[in-house]
Amino acid sequence: MSFSIKNICCIGAGYVGGPTMSVIADKCPHIQVNVVDVNMEKIKLWNSEDLSKLPVYEPGLAEIVKNRRGKNLHFSREINDNISKADMIFISVNTPTKHNGIGAGKASNLKWIEESARQISKYSRGNTIVVEKSTIPVRTASTIKQILKKTNRNTNDKEFHVLSNPEFLAEGSAIKDLLNPDRILIGGDNAEAIKALSNIYLNWVNKDQILTTNLWSSELSKLIANAFLAQRVSSINTVSALCEKTGADVDEVSIAVGMDKRIGEHFLKSGPGFGGSCFKKDILNLVYISEYYGLKEVGEYWQKVLEINSWQQERIYKSIVDNLFNNVSGKKICILGFSFKANTNDTRESPAIEICKDLINDGCNLSIYDPKVSKERIDEDLRNALNQKITNKDKESKWEVSDNLYNSAMDSDALVILTEWEEFRNLNYEKLSEIMRPPSWIFDTRSIIDNEKANNYGFNIWSIGKKNLLSD
Ligand code: NAD
Ligand code: UGA
Repeated sequence: MSFSIKNICCIGAGYVGGPTMSVIADKCPHIQVNVVDVNMEKIKLWNSEDLSKLPVYEPGLAEIVKNRRGKNLHFSREINDNISKADMIFISVNTPTKHNGIGAGKASNLKWIEESARQISKYSRGNTIVVEKSTIPVRTASTIKQILKKTNRNTNDKEFHVLSNPEFLAEGSAIKDLLNPDRILIGGDNAEAIKALSNIYLNWVNKDQILTTNLWSSELSKLIANAFLAQRVSSINTVSALCEKTGADVDEVSIAVGMDKRIGEHFLKSGPGFGGSCFKKDILNLVYISEYYGLKEVGEYWQKVLEINSWQQERIYKSIVDNLFNNVSGKKICILGFSFKANTNDTRESPAIEICKDLINDGCNLSIYDPKVSKERIDEDLRNALNQKITNKDKESKWEVSDNLYNSAMDSDALVILTEWEEFRNLNYEKLSEIMRPPSWIFDTRSIIDNEKANNYGFNIWSIGKKNLLSD
């Protein structure tokens, strides 16, 4: 039987659901796209007149929302109604690491996936295509199928087709990635359902880029793609430490190694370790799955990628303290960047959180500036990381969040660049050298500044994977 898709519902209006559905709505004006979420506040923000208030910051997103919202793109709290109208339903809910019970600390918490499947089972009108967009453990489609079939007595007369269609967008470049994907992966066992989903993408993606596989290959490929990307970051970060000891330069090594076509140039930039909501949780999940199937060595292999990531963050914190005469107590350090990468307001698993926490615990006073992350977000992240109730008065003496880079740097002993925001590449060193306390340091964990230039203004420079450059 062939499917005619006129109405799509996406459960979950987060970093994936929001941008992905906006692009589908933009490229498929003939399809009504309804994005639903249990979080009322989030839906309100998606509907805000002021587009700078959208809950997700992504270059290019606001323009698309402006063009399509109210036409064929709708954000709503009406979950059941929109499920019942839909020919195709994307599940795009969060799948974080479990905190309690079996698999705690490693396995994915599929609570929200299960809830979504139960709602679909209950409210959909049947003959519905259900698409796994969230990243999930391999064989989750089997669980979803069972829930869809068995949840409801009335579901016997409803038919469902489950597809896996993982999302590969990266934050900060989500719209670009969605418009020009390397591939669209669709796993499934029903040819007509696969065709219906492919047809949506064919509105803007070349057919050679649509890869179809069985369900399990598709589900597993998403975890493996993230694991391979994270592994490259951990690999180059181990090299950065070797470079600092030997006088080699990690950026030069990256170029030399990446020019080998078999290796490739991407994902070889050393930094403060990978952050973001997915790499850590997806590798933990891979470790859990490996152990579950009795493959202990496989689990241990991937676990090491995570250990190197934590080690890199700790190493950076220690280098800062070491260079500041082994004492940061009472000193002021200006933190530049708090998001886990540039061009996003997302701070989930940001390396900045761990590094700031260690510095605060060492007695340091921080002044934090990030062009897109809100003060509330930074305060909450640090409160959670420090795992203690901090009153506003206590907090004042440990960190402040500033909306002006140069106010933040005033009287500080060091700048620590943690995110590669464009505006940090060309700082006003003359002004900084006048307002900071000498001897002033710049710790560039992203290796984005011109070291020689900064050094000429009297700064001592520590840059990831390079030898220190000291002022005379
Ligand atoms: P998110 O937390 O930003 O959004 C998930 C949303 O789902 C939340 O707003 C939550 O309120 C909503 N939700 C949960 N249960 C619901 C329910 N029963 N009904 C309605 N809404 C519900 O998460 P995200 O970053 O968008 O990630 C979603 C999934 O996509 C995860 O599995 C993640 O691994 C995967 N993924 C994320 C990215 C990324 O860059 N963030 C990229 C690729 C894949
Ligand atoms: C990553 C993947 O790139 C996406 O393909 C995937 O869809 C997504 O995870 C997901 O499943 O959530 P994202 O985490 O948004 O995307 O951002 P990346 O660009 O991958 O960066 C991840 C982290 O690695 C960042 O902290 C970044 O600074 C760091 N990184 C990246 C490096 O330190 N060096 C590099 O060379 C590349």
